[in-house]
Amino acid sequence: MQLFEPLKQQFSKDNYRASEAQSLAYLIAFGPSVFQTARLMLKYGIFRMLEESENGLTQHEIAMHTGLSEYAAKCLLESSLTTGTVLINLDNNCYTLSKVGWFLLNDQMLRVDIDFNHDVNYQGWFDLDKSLENGRPEGLKHFGNWPTIYEGLSQLPPQVQNSWFAFDHFYSDNSFDDALKIIFSGDAKTLLDVGGNTGRFALRVVEYNKDAHITICDLPQQLDMMRKNIAGHDGAERISGYGMNLLDHEQQFPTKRHYDIIWMSQFLDCFSELQIVDILERAAKIMDKDSRLFIMETLWDRQKYPTAAFALTQTSLYFTALANGNSKMYNTDDMTRLIRQANLQIETIHDNIGRGGHSIIVCKK
Ligand SMILES: C[S@@+](CC[C@H](N)C(=O)[O-])C[C@H]1O[C@@H](n2cnc3c(N)ncnc32)[C@H](O)[C@@H]1O
Repeated sequence: MQLFEPLKQQFSKDNYRASEAQSLAYLIAFGPSVFQTARLMLKYGIFRMLEESENGLTQHEIAMHTGLSEYAAKCLLESSLTTGTVLINLDNNCYTLSKVGWFLLNDQMLRVDIDFNHDVNYQGWFDLDKSLENGRPEGLKHFGNWPTIYEGLSQLPPQVQNSWFAFDHFYSDNSFDDALKIIFSGDAKTLLDVGGNTGRFALRVVEYNKDAHITICDLPQQLDMMRKNIAGHDGAERISGYGMNLLDHEQQFPTKRHYDIIWMSQFLDCFSELQIVDILERAAKIMDKDSRLFIMETLWDRQKYPTAAFALTQTSLYFTALANGNSKMYNTDDMTRLIRQANLQIETIHDNIGRGGHSIIVCKK
Protein backbone atom coordinates (compact mmCIF):
# COMPACT_ATOMS: atom_id res chain seq x y z
CA MET A 1 0.00 0.00 0.00
CA GLN A 2 1.20 3.51 -0.82
CA LEU A 3 0.51 6.25 1.72
CA PHE A 4 1.20 9.98 1.62
CA GLU A 5 4.09 10.89 3.93
CA PRO A 6 2.22 12.11 7.07
CA LEU A 7 0.10 8.98 7.10
CA LYS A 8 3.08 6.64 6.85
CA GLN A 9 4.33 7.54 10.34
CA GLN A 10 0.92 7.23 11.89
CA PHE A 11 -0.24 4.00 10.31
CA SER A 12 2.87 1.86 10.11
CA LYS A 13 4.06 2.29 13.71
CA ASP A 14 2.42 1.74 17.07
CA ASN A 15 2.90 5.31 18.31
CA TYR A 16 0.92 5.21 21.56
CA ARG A 17 2.28 4.76 25.05
CA ALA A 18 0.53 1.87 26.82
CA SER A 19 -1.64 4.22 28.92
CA GLU A 20 -2.73 6.18 25.81
CA ALA A 21 -3.51 2.96 23.96
CA GLN A 22 -5.63 1.75 26.86
CA SER A 23 -7.52 5.08 27.03
CA LEU A 24 -8.25 4.97 23.32
CA ALA A 25 -9.44 1.38 23.63
CA TYR A 26 -11.89 2.46 26.37
CA LEU A 27 -13.04 5.39 24.26
CA ILE A 28 -13.87 2.88 21.53
CA ALA A 29 -15.63 0.49 23.92
CA PHE A 30 -17.88 3.31 25.14
CA GLY A 31 -18.05 4.98 21.72
CA PRO A 32 -21.88 5.09 21.57
CA SER A 33 -22.35 6.86 24.93
CA VAL A 34 -19.40 9.20 24.32
CA PHE A 35 -20.86 10.12 20.94
CA GLN A 36 -24.42 10.60 22.19
CA THR A 37 -23.31 12.68 25.18
CA ALA A 38 -21.25 15.01 22.99
CA ARG A 39 -24.16 15.33 20.58
CA LEU A 40 -26.52 16.24 23.43
CA MET A 41 -24.08 18.72 24.95
CA LEU A 42 -24.33 20.45 21.56
CA LYS A 43 -28.08 19.98 21.22
CA TYR A 44 -28.90 21.39 24.66
CA GLY A 45 -26.49 24.29 24.07
CA ILE A 46 -24.29 23.36 27.05
CA PHE A 47 -20.98 23.60 25.15
CA ARG A 48 -22.12 26.99 23.82
CA MET A 49 -23.04 28.32 27.31
CA LEU A 50 -19.73 27.15 28.70
CA GLU A 51 -17.85 28.91 25.90
CA GLU A 52 -19.80 32.11 26.45
CA SER A 53 -19.55 32.08 30.26
CA GLU A 54 -16.81 34.16 31.80
CA ASN A 55 -15.63 31.74 34.49
CA GLY A 56 -17.59 28.59 33.72
CA LEU A 57 -20.91 27.35 35.10
CA THR A 58 -21.93 25.07 37.94
CA GLN A 59 -24.05 21.99 37.39
CA HIS A 60 -26.98 23.78 39.03
CA GLU A 61 -26.66 26.76 36.67
CA ILE A 62 -26.51 24.43 33.67
CA ALA A 63 -29.61 22.57 34.82
CA MET A 64 -31.43 25.90 35.23
CA HIS A 65 -30.35 27.33 31.86
CA THR A 66 -31.22 24.16 29.93
CA GLY A 67 -34.36 23.16 31.82
CA LEU A 68 -32.82 19.72 32.39
CA SER A 69 -33.10 18.01 35.77
CA GLU A 70 -30.08 18.08 38.10
CA TYR A 71 -29.78 14.34 37.42
CA ALA A 72 -29.69 14.79 33.63
CA ALA A 73 -27.20 17.66 33.82
CA LYS A 74 -24.98 15.67 36.19
CA CYS A 75 -24.95 12.58 33.92
CA LEU A 76 -24.03 14.62 30.86
CA LEU A 77 -21.41 16.71 32.65
CA GLU A 78 -19.68 13.79 34.35
CA SER A 79 -19.57 11.78 31.13
CA SER A 80 -18.17 14.85 29.33
CA LEU A 81 -15.63 15.48 32.09
CA THR A 82 -14.15 12.00 31.90
CA THR A 83 -14.25 12.03 28.09
CA GLY A 84 -12.33 15.30 28.09
CA THR A 85 -14.78 17.67 26.42
CA VAL A 86 -15.22 19.80 29.58
CA LEU A 87 -13.00 20.61 32.58
CA ILE A 88 -13.86 21.37 36.20
CA ASN A 89 -12.42 24.11 38.40
CA LEU A 90 -12.13 22.43 41.80
CA ASP A 91 -12.13 25.75 43.69
CA ASN A 92 -15.68 26.71 42.71
CA ASN A 93 -17.04 23.54 40.99
CA CYS A 94 -17.53 25.42 37.73
CA TYR A 95 -17.36 23.57 34.43
CA THR A 96 -15.53 25.08 31.44
CA LEU A 97 -15.08 24.00 27.83
CA SER A 98 -11.90 22.04 27.00
CA LYS A 99 -10.02 22.20 23.70
CA VAL A 100 -11.79 19.03 22.52
CA GLY A 101 -15.15 20.58 23.40
CA TRP A 102 -14.14 23.75 21.55
CA PHE A 103 -13.56 21.77 18.35
CA LEU A 104 -16.87 19.94 18.68
CA LEU A 105 -18.62 23.28 19.06
CA ASN A 106 -16.79 25.37 16.47
CA ASP A 107 -15.50 23.09 13.74
CA GLN A 108 -18.27 23.09 11.14
CA MET A 109 -16.98 19.87 9.59
CA LEU A 110 -17.36 18.04 12.91
CA ARG A 111 -20.90 19.36 13.33
CA VAL A 112 -21.84 18.08 9.88
CA ASP A 113 -20.23 14.70 10.67
CA ILE A 114 -22.08 14.39 13.99
CA ASP A 115 -25.47 15.10 12.40
CA PHE A 116 -24.75 12.71 9.53
CA ASN A 117 -23.65 9.96 11.90
CA HIS A 118 -26.63 10.39 14.20
CA ASP A 119 -29.43 10.97 11.69
CA VAL A 120 -28.27 8.75 8.83
CA ASN A 121 -25.88 6.13 10.19
CA TYR A 122 -26.39 5.49 13.88
CA GLN A 123 -29.19 2.93 13.80
CA GLY A 124 -28.03 1.36 10.54
CA TRP A 125 -24.52 0.68 11.85
CA PHE A 126 -26.05 -1.76 14.32
CA ASP A 127 -26.38 -4.01 11.25
CA LEU A 128 -22.84 -3.50 10.00
CA ASP A 129 -21.98 -7.18 10.43
CA LYS A 130 -24.94 -8.36 8.35
CA SER A 131 -24.19 -5.71 5.74
CA LEU A 132 -20.57 -6.84 5.44
CA GLU A 133 -21.57 -10.50 5.29
CA ASN A 134 -24.38 -10.04 2.75
CA GLY A 135 -22.94 -7.19 0.64
CA ARG A 136 -26.22 -5.34 1.10
CA PRO A 137 -27.00 -2.11 3.02
CA GLU A 138 -28.94 -3.94 5.75
CA GLY A 139 -29.11 -0.78 7.91
CA LEU A 140 -31.15 1.02 5.26
CA LYS A 141 -34.27 -0.86 6.34
CA HIS A 142 -34.65 1.69 9.18
CA PHE A 143 -35.74 4.14 6.47
CA GLY A 144 -37.29 2.05 3.70
CA ASN A 145 -37.01 -0.90 1.38
CA TRP A 146 -34.93 0.52 -1.45
CA PRO A 147 -31.98 -1.48 -2.83
CA THR A 148 -29.69 1.58 -2.33
CA ILE A 149 -30.08 4.84 -0.42
CA TYR A 150 -29.91 6.81 -3.67
CA GLU A 151 -33.24 5.45 -4.86
CA GLY A 152 -34.76 6.60 -1.55
CA LEU A 153 -32.94 9.90 -1.13
CA SER A 154 -35.90 12.05 -2.16
CA GLN A 155 -38.19 10.19 0.28
CA LEU A 156 -36.01 10.12 3.42
CA PRO A 157 -37.48 11.82 6.53
CA PRO A 158 -36.69 15.57 6.35
CA GLN A 159 -34.16 15.55 9.20
CA VAL A 160 -32.31 12.58 7.69
CA GLN A 161 -32.38 14.14 4.24
CA ASN A 162 -31.06 17.45 5.63
CA SER A 163 -28.15 15.75 7.36
CA TRP A 164 -27.38 13.65 4.26
CA PHE A 165 -27.30 16.69 1.98
CA ALA A 166 -25.38 18.81 4.50
CA PHE A 167 -22.69 16.10 4.65
CA ASP A 168 -22.57 15.62 0.89
CA HIS A 169 -22.59 19.34 0.14
CA PHE A 170 -20.11 20.35 2.83
CA TYR A 171 -17.39 18.21 1.35
CA SER A 172 -17.98 18.88 -2.34
CA ASP A 173 -18.96 22.59 -2.05
CA ASN A 174 -15.62 23.39 -0.49
CA SER A 175 -13.84 21.98 -3.52
CA PHE A 176 -15.81 23.66 -6.28
CA ASP A 177 -13.71 26.88 -6.43
CA ASP A 178 -10.48 24.97 -7.05
CA ALA A 179 -12.22 22.52 -9.36
CA LEU A 180 -13.72 25.27 -11.55
CA LYS A 181 -10.28 26.86 -12.07
CA ILE A 182 -8.87 23.52 -13.21
CA ILE A 183 -11.85 22.65 -15.43
CA PHE A 184 -11.86 25.99 -17.20
CA SER A 185 -8.08 26.36 -17.53
CA GLY A 186 -8.59 25.10 -21.11
CA ASP A 187 -11.42 26.04 -23.45
CA ALA A 188 -14.05 23.56 -22.27
CA LYS A 189 -17.64 24.61 -22.95
CA THR A 190 -19.79 21.49 -22.67
CA LEU A 191 -19.88 19.37 -19.54
CA LEU A 192 -21.65 16.20 -18.47
CA ASP A 193 -22.03 16.07 -14.67
CA VAL A 194 -22.59 12.41 -13.80
CA GLY A 195 -24.34 12.14 -10.44
CA GLY A 196 -24.97 15.89 -10.47
CA ASN A 197 -27.54 15.57 -7.70
CA THR A 198 -29.34 18.82 -6.84
CA GLY A 199 -27.44 20.87 -9.42
CA ARG A 200 -25.26 22.86 -7.02
CA PHE A 201 -22.15 22.30 -9.08
CA ALA A 202 -24.01 22.96 -12.34
CA LEU A 203 -25.14 26.35 -10.99
CA ARG A 204 -21.54 27.21 -10.15
CA VAL A 205 -20.45 26.19 -13.66
CA VAL A 206 -22.95 28.38 -15.50
CA GLU A 207 -22.13 31.28 -13.18
CA TYR A 208 -18.36 30.85 -13.66
CA ASN A 209 -18.43 30.51 -17.45
CA LYS A 210 -21.17 32.34 -19.35
CA ASP A 211 -20.66 30.12 -22.44
CA ALA A 212 -20.76 26.80 -20.63
CA HIS A 213 -23.57 24.28 -20.99
CA ILE A 214 -23.89 21.43 -18.53
CA THR A 215 -26.01 18.27 -18.61
CA ILE A 216 -26.74 16.53 -15.32
CA CYS A 217 -27.07 12.78 -15.41
CA ASP A 218 -28.74 11.27 -12.38
CA LEU A 219 -31.61 9.06 -11.25
CA PRO A 220 -34.93 10.52 -12.50
CA GLN A 221 -36.17 11.27 -8.94
CA GLN A 222 -33.01 13.34 -8.28
CA LEU A 223 -33.58 15.31 -11.46
CA ASP A 224 -36.94 16.47 -10.09
CA MET A 225 -35.16 17.87 -7.02
CA MET A 226 -32.49 19.37 -9.26
CA ARG A 227 -35.05 21.20 -11.44
CA LYS A 228 -36.71 22.72 -8.35
CA ASN A 229 -33.33 23.72 -7.00
CA ILE A 230 -32.05 25.52 -10.10
CA ALA A 231 -35.36 27.20 -11.05
CA GLY A 232 -35.05 30.97 -11.29
CA HIS A 233 -31.25 31.05 -11.02
CA ASP A 234 -29.14 32.86 -13.62
CA GLY A 235 -27.92 30.44 -16.26
CA ALA A 236 -30.49 27.75 -15.40
CA GLU A 237 -31.41 27.61 -19.11
CA ARG A 238 -27.89 26.25 -19.79
CA ILE A 239 -28.46 23.29 -17.45
CA SER A 240 -30.16 20.15 -18.80
CA GLY A 241 -31.13 16.92 -17.11
CA TYR A 242 -30.73 13.37 -18.36
CA GLY A 243 -32.37 10.70 -16.21
CA MET A 244 -30.69 7.32 -16.07
CA ASN A 245 -29.91 4.52 -13.66
CA LEU A 246 -26.27 3.66 -14.10
CA LEU A 247 -26.73 0.34 -12.35
CA ASP A 248 -28.59 -0.75 -15.46
CA HIS A 249 -25.79 -1.80 -17.78
CA GLU A 250 -27.98 -1.26 -20.85
CA GLN A 251 -28.47 2.47 -20.20
CA GLN A 252 -25.96 4.61 -22.11
CA PHE A 253 -24.72 8.17 -21.55
CA PRO A 254 -26.32 10.87 -23.73
CA THR A 255 -24.86 11.43 -27.18
CA LYS A 256 -26.95 14.40 -28.28
CA ARG A 257 -23.92 16.66 -28.01
CA HIS A 258 -20.17 16.30 -27.65
CA TYR A 259 -18.96 16.74 -24.06
CA ASP A 260 -15.57 18.38 -23.59
CA ILE A 261 -15.55 17.26 -19.98
CA ILE A 262 -17.27 14.45 -18.16
CA TRP A 263 -17.35 15.33 -14.45
CA MET A 264 -17.81 12.75 -11.72
CA SER A 265 -17.65 14.28 -8.24
CA GLN A 266 -18.03 12.09 -5.17
CA PHE A 267 -19.77 9.71 -7.51
CA LEU A 268 -17.70 6.60 -8.11
CA ASP A 269 -17.51 5.94 -4.36
CA CYS A 270 -21.22 5.05 -4.65
CA PHE A 271 -20.38 1.94 -6.70
CA SER A 272 -18.55 -1.37 -6.37
CA GLU A 273 -15.33 -2.01 -8.27
CA LEU A 274 -17.10 -4.00 -11.00
CA GLN A 275 -19.75 -1.30 -11.39
CA ILE A 276 -17.09 1.42 -11.60
CA VAL A 277 -15.34 -0.30 -14.50
CA ASP A 278 -18.67 -0.74 -16.24
CA ILE A 279 -19.59 2.96 -15.77
CA LEU A 280 -16.16 4.14 -16.92
CA GLU A 281 -16.31 1.92 -20.01
CA ARG A 282 -19.66 3.47 -20.89
CA ALA A 283 -18.22 6.96 -20.32
CA ALA A 284 -15.25 6.11 -22.59
CA LYS A 285 -17.71 5.26 -25.38
CA ILE A 286 -18.81 8.91 -25.66
CA MET A 287 -15.25 10.31 -25.39
CA ASP A 288 -12.95 11.22 -28.27
CA LYS A 289 -9.28 12.22 -28.17
CA ASP A 290 -10.16 15.75 -27.00
CA SER A 291 -12.58 14.78 -24.24
CA ARG A 292 -11.42 14.54 -20.67
CA LEU A 293 -12.93 12.70 -17.74
CA PHE A 294 -12.44 14.46 -14.39
CA ILE A 295 -12.93 12.22 -11.37
CA MET A 296 -13.06 14.12 -8.07
CA GLU A 297 -12.74 11.82 -5.08
CA THR A 298 -11.47 11.88 -1.51
CA LEU A 299 -8.79 9.19 -1.83
CA TRP A 300 -8.01 8.35 1.77
CA ASP A 301 -4.34 7.51 1.23
CA ARG A 302 -3.66 10.95 -0.31
CA GLN A 303 -4.72 12.94 2.76
CA LYS A 304 -2.35 15.40 4.45
CA TYR A 305 -3.60 14.52 7.92
CA PRO A 306 -4.18 11.13 9.57
CA THR A 307 -7.47 12.48 10.98
CA ALA A 308 -8.77 13.06 7.45
CA ALA A 309 -7.85 9.49 6.47
CA PHE A 310 -9.64 8.33 9.63
CA ALA A 311 -12.85 10.22 8.76
CA LEU A 312 -12.85 8.85 5.23
CA THR A 313 -12.29 5.21 6.13
CA GLN A 314 -15.07 5.48 8.73
CA THR A 315 -17.32 7.00 6.06
CA SER A 316 -16.74 3.85 3.99
CA LEU A 317 -18.92 2.07 6.53
CA TYR A 318 -21.83 4.38 5.69
CA PHE A 319 -21.62 2.95 2.17
CA THR A 320 -21.54 -0.57 3.60
CA ALA A 321 -24.47 -0.40 6.02
CA LEU A 322 -26.65 2.39 4.60
CA ALA A 323 -25.83 3.30 1.03
CA ASN A 324 -25.39 0.18 -1.07
CA GLY A 325 -23.40 -2.52 0.75
CA ASN A 326 -20.58 -2.71 -1.77
CA SER A 327 -18.75 0.59 -2.20
CA LYS A 328 -16.36 2.72 -0.19
CA MET A 329 -13.93 5.60 -0.11
CA TYR A 330 -11.28 4.17 -2.40
CA ASN A 331 -7.52 4.64 -2.31
CA THR A 332 -5.24 5.59 -5.20
CA ASP A 333 -4.23 2.01 -6.05
CA ASP A 334 -7.89 0.95 -6.30
CA MET A 335 -9.03 3.90 -8.38
CA THR A 336 -6.10 3.93 -10.81
CA ARG A 337 -6.42 0.16 -11.37
CA LEU A 338 -10.15 0.52 -12.17
CA ILE A 339 -9.53 3.46 -14.53
CA ARG A 340 -6.93 1.41 -16.44
CA GLN A 341 -9.24 -1.61 -16.56
CA ALA A 342 -11.73 0.64 -18.38
CA ASN A 343 -8.99 1.40 -20.94
CA LEU A 344 -8.61 5.02 -19.89
CA GLN A 345 -5.28 6.74 -19.26
CA ILE A 346 -4.50 9.00 -16.34
CA GLU A 347 -3.15 12.31 -17.59
CA THR A 348 -2.61 13.99 -14.24
CA ILE A 349 -3.77 14.04 -10.61
CA HIS A 350 -4.43 17.33 -8.76
CA ASP A 351 -4.29 16.98 -4.97
CA ASN A 352 -5.38 19.06 -1.97
CA ILE A 353 -8.50 20.40 -3.62
CA GLY A 354 -10.76 22.35 -1.23
CA ARG A 355 -11.10 21.65 2.47
CA GLY A 356 -12.23 18.07 2.20
CA GLY A 357 -8.94 16.74 0.81
CA HIS A 358 -10.25 15.91 -2.66
CA SER A 359 -8.11 14.87 -5.60
CA ILE A 360 -9.06 15.33 -9.23
CA ILE A 361 -7.89 12.55 -11.54
CA VAL A 362 -7.87 13.74 -15.15
CA CYS A 363 -8.32 10.88 -17.62
CA LYS A 364 -8.21 10.63 -21.40
CA LYS A 365 -9.00 7.93 -23.87
C1 LIG B 1 -22.64 11.29 -3.21
S1 LIG B 1 -23.70 12.03 -4.37
C2 LIG B 1 -22.61 13.16 -5.17
C3 LIG B 1 -23.30 14.40 -5.61
C4 LIG B 1 -22.46 15.49 -6.26
N1 LIG B 1 -21.83 15.02 -7.48
C5 LIG B 1 -21.46 16.07 -5.31
O1 LIG B 1 -20.26 16.07 -5.62
O2 LIG B 1 -21.86 16.56 -4.25
C6 LIG B 1 -23.89 10.76 -5.56
C7 LIG B 1 -24.86 11.07 -6.68
O3 LIG B 1 -24.91 9.92 -7.54
C8 LIG B 1 -26.23 9.63 -7.87
N2 LIG B 1 -26.41 8.20 -8.15
C9 LIG B 1 -26.27 7.20 -7.25
N3 LIG B 1 -26.59 6.02 -7.83
C10 LIG B 1 -26.92 6.29 -9.11
C11 LIG B 1 -27.33 5.50 -10.20
N4 LIG B 1 -27.48 4.18 -10.07
N5 LIG B 1 -27.58 6.09 -11.39
C12 LIG B 1 -27.44 7.43 -11.52
N6 LIG B 1 -27.04 8.25 -10.52
C13 LIG B 1 -26.80 7.70 -9.32
C14 LIG B 1 -27.01 10.03 -6.63
O4 LIG B 1 -28.37 10.25 -6.91
C15 LIG B 1 -26.28 11.29 -6.20
O5 LIG B 1 -26.81 12.42 -6.81
